[in-house]
Amino acid sequence: MNNPTVSPTADEAQRVLPQELRYGSVAVGFHWVMVVLVVIVGVLGLLHDSWPRATQGFWINIHAMVGLAVWVLVMARLGWRLTHRPPDLPPDVGQFSQRLSRPVHALLYALMLVIPAIGIVTFIYHGRIFDFGLFQVNFHVHSNRRIFHPTENVHGYLAYGLFALLGLHVLAALWHHFVRRDAVLLRMWPARRAGSEAGS
Ligand code: HEM
Ligand code: HEM
Repeated sequence: MNNPTVSPTADEAQRVLPQELRYGSVAVGFHWVMVVLVVIVGVLGLLHDSWPRATQGFWINIHAMVGLAVWVLVMARLGWRLTHRPPDLPPDVGQFSQRLSRPVHALLYALMLVIPAIGIVTFIYHGRIFDFGLFQVNFHVHSNRRIFHPTENVHGYLAYGLFALLGLHVLAALWHHFVRRDAVLLRMWPARRAGSEAGS
């Protein structure tokens, strides 16, 4: 596997995927922490109406806390990304994937920035108080249905859009790995060897 124009197969890649084709350990860390938090916030969002009335406020606050963590993490990730160029895709990845991956990733980032922002407006205009455990943040806003009703709808629709896009994203990653058997998934997989450089 010394030919630089052909990316390794999935079996080979684990051993030979060059460092310049991998995301750095910081980017990989951001990605997988983001995955865990987005799954938690999404599941909590979908369960909003299932909680008993007595505990609904508690769970919506937890949803808001995890959603805020996603927001901060995505901003930190984008800050890191601006100063750390992502690795080029392996050369044998098709034109279609090359063209599609950038706008899809950009849209994922955009949704993960916009959804929490609209969630914050919805939360505040529900008259809710952010409870961070050690302290609370109260905007002293009375519940205003004319504002929170439409923003809650938009927040929900965009979240469903995010889930659909993430479904495609995950299917694409699995398709690359198990059908095309190229190195795309391994680029974002934590490297086995210790001491990989932090980067993009
Ligand atoms: C990426 C992050 C987030 C995702 C994926 C997400 C997802 C969702 C989903 C799926 C729903 C249910 C929508 C429906 O039933 O139609 C929801 C509701 C809601 N979310 Fe989020 N959310 C996120 C972040 C946030 C943040 C940061 C806040 C507030 C700080 C927030 C506040 C709310 C509120 C207030 C509701 C309505 C619940 C209610 O009062 O009935 N969300 N969210
Ligand atoms: C909540 C779930 C997920 C979110 C929010 C998410 C988000 C993202 C984002 C924003 C990127 C672009 C990284 C960048 O260039 O800055 C990315 C890349 C990537 N993700 Fe995910 N992802 C999720 C789940 C997954 C899962 C479950 C897999 C694997 C099965 C996966 C595999 C990948 C791979 C392989 C890349 C790199 C693609 C490339 O080389 O161009 N992702 N993801």
